[in-house]
Amino acid sequence: MLNSPQLPASIHQEIQQLAKQQTQPLCAYLYDLDALEQHIKQMRHVLPKNVELFYAAKANPSAPILRTLAPYVDGFEAASGGELTHLHQQQLNKPLIFGGPGKMLSELEQAIELDVDAIHVESLTELQRIGALTQRLNRPASIFLRMNIDIGDITLSKLAMGGKPTPFGLDEGELNNALMYLRDFPLIKLKGFHFHLMSHQLEVDRHLALMQRYFQVVKEWQKTFSLDELIINLGGGMGINYQNPQQHFPWMEFCDKLEFLIAKEHMQDWKLRFECGRYITAPCGYYVMEVLDIKQNLGENFVIARGGTHHFRTPAAQNHDHPFVILKSSKQPTISHPISYATATLVGQLCTPKDVMARNQHIEQVDIGDYVVFTLAGAYAWNISHQNFLMHEPPVFHYF
Ligand SMILES: Cc1ncc(COP(=O)(O)O)c(C=O)c1O
Repeated sequence: MLNSPQLPASIHQEIQQLAKQQTQPLCAYLYDLDALEQHIKQMRHVLPKNVELFYAAKANPSAPILRTLAPYVDGFEAASGGELTHLHQQQLNKPLIFGGPGKMLSELEQAIELDVDAIHVESLTELQRIGALTQRLNRPASIFLRMNIDIGDITLSKLAMGGKPTPFGLDEGELNNALMYLRDFPLIKLKGFHFHLMSHQLEVDRHLALMQRYFQVVKEWQKTFSLDELIINLGGGMGINYQNPQQHFPWMEFCDKLEFLIAKEHMQDWKLRFECGRYITAPCGYYVMEVLDIKQNLGENFVIARGGTHHFRTPAAQNHDHPFVILKSSKQPTISHPISYATATLVGQLCTPKDVMARNQHIEQVDIGDYVVFTLAGAYAWNISHQNFLMHEPPVFHYF
């Protein structure tokens, strides 16, 4: 059952207090920055010595989140000129890396001007653009070549960005041409290779098998092409289990085993790097919707609450029932329509049947004025939502 009663006491308090300050029914994102700080500290603490941890800002680029993470991460990954500008403006004093397909000339120029730690090159065309820019600007550019490779019998995760045909990265067959091209552009420095093949990874051993594949293939390339010292960016993709929060990607176990793998593959002297998003910020966020109406329709119960997928597209994007907790309101509702020990579908205020956060959920008790608190809402939530649809007001944002 998703309707789990486990909500930290501090979140209860914050919600009740926030609700008291509102003149309208509550609709809010809450971010527990203390929890985020503890989480990133722990993640960092167990990382093998030669592994860096970057944060992929696309998961949640809000300023308080970035500032909380900055002391504990080695840098930030941007996936557009917009994200680059934003990260630069936050003055996080950490290296920036710039990835993503279809980069425009202006964005590449921006990255070179900002002197980013590395541009992740997605194609030969992009490499040519960078070559031309380094000459025109007479400025150096550091790059990683993003590669898509055959991963043999390693099983793909729920969302594969590589290991099969995708728009991401260079085909291994293009590597020789890319390296030949670099010979004519001394201002481009090849710093390493970049891989991001899986998202939503929940299986440690599969992910380790993927890491091993990266290590082996890069060592092979280094030998074949006589390449200097290289960094390997191993991507992100560590998964959150929205259906069973006890079974998120086991980061500690992964880091333990990674250390062994690094030794086994003689990678101790290599610099390795992760760029994680979801796994870092999903747990610190909560999306809260106050119940406006409860009704029966053709034999089914619907709980209609303030907000919806235009603020919180995660359940629609993932096509899942999002985990939640019902929190009793301390206010007395003027109209009451409680249901208890019933099955209900949780929806928002949009006039589309797709505005569903969770279907057919067992609910112990809910009434008008109570709060539906969606957990694991700190990544790919507000910033991936179609916020202008129907011109509803935005939610309140509360960081504590
Ligand atoms: C290139 C790249 N790196 C890192 C990430 C972060 O992935 P995740 O949030 O699953 O860790 C993404 C997400 O799409 C990505 O495309």
